[in-house]
Amino acid sequence: MFKFKKRSFLMTTVLAVSLMLSACGNNAANNTKESNAPANAGTGTESAAPANAPAADKKIVVGFSQIGAESGWRDAETQSIKDTFGNDPQFELKFSDAQQKQENQIKAIRTFISQKVDAIALAPVVESGWETVLEEAKAANIPVFLLDRTVKVSDESLYTSFIGSDFILEGQNAAKTMMELLGSDKQVNIVELQGTVGASAANDRQKGFKEIVDANPNYKIIKSQSGDFTRAKGKEVMEAFLKSDGKNIQAVYAHNDDMALGAIQAIEEYGLKPGTDIFVVSVDGIKPAFEAIRDGKLNVTVECNPLLGPQLKQAILDFKAGTALDKWIKSDEDVYFGQKAIDALPNRTY
Ligand code: AHR
Repeated sequence: MFKFKKRSFLMTTVLAVSLMLSACGNNAANNTKESNAPANAGTGTESAAPANAPAADKKIVVGFSQIGAESGWRDAETQSIKDTFGNDPQFELKFSDAQQKQENQIKAIRTFISQKVDAIALAPVVESGWETVLEEAKAANIPVFLLDRTVKVSDESLYTSFIGSDFILEGQNAAKTMMELLGSDKQVNIVELQGTVGASAANDRQKGFKEIVDANPNYKIIKSQSGDFTRAKGKEVMEAFLKSDGKNIQAVYAHNDDMALGAIQAIEEYGLKPGTDIFVVSVDGIKPAFEAIRDGKLNVTVECNPLLGPQLKQAILDFKAGTALDKWIKSDEDVYFGQKAIDALPNRTY
């Protein structure tokens, strides 16, 4: 009787321990990437995958924290990332839209870290305030790729590579082309529509443009204000500029095409002809900007390439293969005005 009780106690203990171990196993799995698989995950059916299906943990999981959807350029960048990773079965993309808020981006990065993604891509809304969260990613051994905008950090090893444009050069090209087309000996008062305050795209485009303008005493930036990279705010700020300075304005420099398109509307509503009465130059090179050049309302667009998906994918694959990466993977870009813009319009995809 006692022997029977002892054996029964032993069997119950073994059963209980193995149940506990299996429960722990499930919890452990829930901390890995597979736990983010949809609906049926954790139901006990996920292991019944067909023999030839690629194991979920073979996928390279990429977490992408996007700024938002403030411009046509931004939409094109999002699409490029979604197409590149969505069409490649080796990858799984986790996409997060921060709606212009740095705090949302920091939260998204922390979620990606807890999900143990293989790589993080970050398009940082502003330059500063990233050290802590990038240190957390580094401590978790997750490479971070900066996309399109840069960050200011004391330790460059906090990110793997920056993939994007030379914003200072874009600003310089905007000013040089303006002088080339208007003539450097003419008196020109410029109003500037800045991008998002604190964004590297705004800081550097301002810096590059100012450098060239400051070297020519005939050219002056008489007003400068942020239009937050949006068409609506670009229009609003331009309306205010026109109200205060009206016919004293000879040129507009907008840090992106969307703000320039808003400014064009404001100039027309004010009763002047954009592109003729007021010279307009902007940055990006989105299709509506090429159309505005064709229609004579925009003078110049300085290209900034948003199609960064393929470069990001290659960088992640190279990193995984142990290939040394450039700290800055630069985009190829051009400057468009006149017939060159009209000729390029049919092939513009975004
Ligand atoms: O960081 C790139 C800039 O961000 C683009 O020029 C602008 O359109 C976007 O919002």
